Amino acid sequence: MNIIDIINKTKKSQELSEDEILWLVNGYTNGDIPDYQMSAWLMAVCLNGLTEAETFALTAAMRDSGDILKLNIPLTADKHSTGGVGDKTSLIVGPVVAACGVCVAKMSGRGLGHTGGTIDKLESIEGYRTDLSIPEFEKILSQTGFSIISQTGELCPADKKIYSLRNATGTVDSIPLICASIMSKKLAMNADILVLDVKYGSGAFMKNRKEAERLADLMEKIGAAAGKKCKAVVTDMNSPLGKNIGNALEVREAIELLQGKTKGKLYDICIELSAEMLRLAGKGSLQECIQLAKEAVSSGKALDVLRSTIRLHGGNERICDDTSILPQPQLKYEIRATKEMKILGFNCEELGMTSLLLGAGRLNKNDKLDMSAGIIMNCEIGDHLNADDIIMTLYSTVCSDFSDAAVRALNAVKFEITEKPSYT
Ligand code: URA
Repeated sequence: MNIIDIINKTKKSQELSEDEILWLVNGYTNGDIPDYQMSAWLMAVCLNGLTEAETFALTAAMRDSGDILKLNIPLTADKHSTGGVGDKTSLIVGPVVAACGVCVAKMSGRGLGHTGGTIDKLESIEGYRTDLSIPEFEKILSQTGFSIISQTGELCPADKKIYSLRNATGTVDSIPLICASIMSKKLAMNADILVLDVKYGSGAFMKNRKEAERLADLMEKIGAAAGKKCKAVVTDMNSPLGKNIGNALEVREAIELLQGKTKGKLYDICIELSAEMLRLAGKGSLQECIQLAKEAVSSGKALDVLRSTIRLHGGNERICDDTSILPQPQLKYEIRATKEMKILGFNCEELGMTSLLLGAGRLNKNDKLDMSAGIIMNCEIGDHLNADDIIMTLYSTVCSDFSDAAVRALNAVKFEITEKPSYT
């Protein structure tokens, strides 16, 4: 086998064998194949795609490049979102599903670029430790049924290397590559049940629903082929999920939802994802599981799970009753309508970048976050606003000059002026 033949085959859309793909992944991971040759192959994949069999083989080779987690828990469920803006669903779905008797064990990442990361959100809770060992993780799971930690051990080293190369070579947006990247990590986590939230729209990797459906279908097939109970749900990311964007602001919104104070799109998606997990765990039909999930919220049991999990992670559990203990921003800036207008849509990627500029995200891996920073959306798509109504409010503690963020925020709003012309 040699790398030139492999690049040429993919360039000509000829199918690679399982052995060739394994050789390629292992060769790149151990440094035998240099970045420039792997980049040429990745670009050929971006242009020509891969067959299903090739995508399965790529996923398996990447999964097997490192450790595979084996938890001492009889049945575990995991969820994954392909990334979005204001996406705090893991903080809600985990406690809801655990409150219904199914253990949710999750490893999450930090935010990079316009999308937030669940680990950053959890670290906005005073004292909360995300860097637990596997025995500590198992202990919390056996006590509360829910825990999220940052990645530990050496899961999928091949993905780490390939993903950073893709980021640097414009080869991220390929359905088979995204699928193999996500599924290899999820299969290495090795949960029995896997629910995938595949997003489409202005804040997502997949810009339209059809592409997201193709990705969802492929991920489900790979999950099933690996012996997992797997369901992929396609959801809209053309507007932020919920009203709050930014670490502590999102924790606050998740708690308010679990307190039963808010409903809407965020609630509906969380109930749907929770119900799918419960159904796969054999808790009943989808309808019955929807009911179970709703009751877990309305009874306060899901909030109790979150409270106990936060305490066992060393965090200040009192935030579950008093969200004002969370980091509070010192500064705010209101973006207001200048005329009567109708809100037509949002560019979520721009909203994510606005939040980043305010201090909630990082451009570079080692940037320090302002946990209090972010945005609260004061309107939704379809709303009619009068002149001077607030469109959104920007918050920060570290960013004293809001001008760049305000320009970006305004660019993120699509609207039409509805003010009637005045005649003299
Ligand atoms: N998330 C991942 O982990 N990998 C991708 O390729 C895209 C999103």
